[in-house]
Amino acid sequence: MTWRALPKVELHLHLEGAAPPEFIRGLAKEKRIDLSKIFAQDGSYAYRDFVHFLSVYEAATSVLKSPEDFKRLTLAVLEESASEGVVYSETFLSPDFCGGRDLVAWREYLAAMAEAADEADAKFGITLKGIVTCIRHFGPDKARETARCAAETKGDFLRGFGMAGDENVGKPGDFTWAFDCAREAGLRLTSHACEWRGPDEVTQTLDALKVERIGHGVRAHSDATVMARVIDEGVVLEVCPLSNVVLGVFADMASHPIERMRAQGVKVTVSTDDPPFFHTTMSKEYAALEQAFGWDEAVFAEINSTALEAAFCDAETKEKIAARLANGR
Ligand code: HPA
Ligand code: ZN
Repeated sequence: MTWRALPKVELHLHLEGAAPPEFIRGLAKEKRIDLSKIFAQDGSYAYRDFVHFLSVYEAATSVLKSPEDFKRLTLAVLEESASEGVVYSETFLSPDFCGGRDLVAWREYLAAMAEAADEADAKFGITLKGIVTCIRHFGPDKARETARCAAETKGDFLRGFGMAGDENVGKPGDFTWAFDCAREAGLRLTSHACEWRGPDEVTQTLDALKVERIGHGVRAHSDATVMARVIDEGVVLEVCPLSNVVLGVFADMASHPIERMRAQGVKVTVSTDDPPFFHTTMSKEYAALEQAFGWDEAVFAEINSTALEAAFCDAETKEKIAARLANGR
């Protein structure tokens, strides 16, 4: 079955990581920037492993230089997501790539992305909310500046704060100040954890950063104590199955723990992470889950309702999206 038409909620999407390669090549040409090294023969992004992926990601992002560029990017990404049946999306936004964490510049970039979100809602029928992320391998000082940008711009569009980047650099406790600052401003919290490191990363992230959602968290599946805590505390996992398979976290879909975690009572959701980098889309994720685990419409309905419950938007938006999930469009 093709899952394209099914209305979906996506919680874990990196805005720059969702940029179609043609879009980045187009901007590079306009700005006369040579990016040939980051593309394969077939035009897709080329990288060797996760750390190299992060540097290719940063190189691709370097062609996005103005609020107008981010407005165009946001519209292109939302058009693509809407065509995949996504009716509500939360994307990670990075002040690091939007004016280098300068608050005045950041406000302009954010306004451009919010404007694109309004246009996409009207044109494509998709709602977007933003989550500012600090970047772990850029270190705690930059994370503090990023948190300040987020705290100052919390509003109807900007709903959350989180952390992306290389999990093998530093530890969650290095970022406590940034997460405290964001929490005090009323932002909701999530962080990448346990995509690369072991179950203790989930424990440290919950203890030090007090997040309600975790990006990935999938390596914790074998630790009964950590799983029990995730279940008891109702922590929601933003699982990105094909990202994990393509990056080699798991050998294939059949060995991915998402189904075992769901059966145990973990609140799992499904997202694409950086779709063109991982050659995925929301409907490909759903088809792969159907094929590997026999997931059907009832399971996907449960997954989407878990995701909507865990969404960082206001109650009115949730009601509107719940009606669309119930209507099937
Ligand atoms: N994981 C961690 N950091 C990231 C990613 C990701 O998939 N994409 C962009 N930054
Ligand atoms: Zn991610």
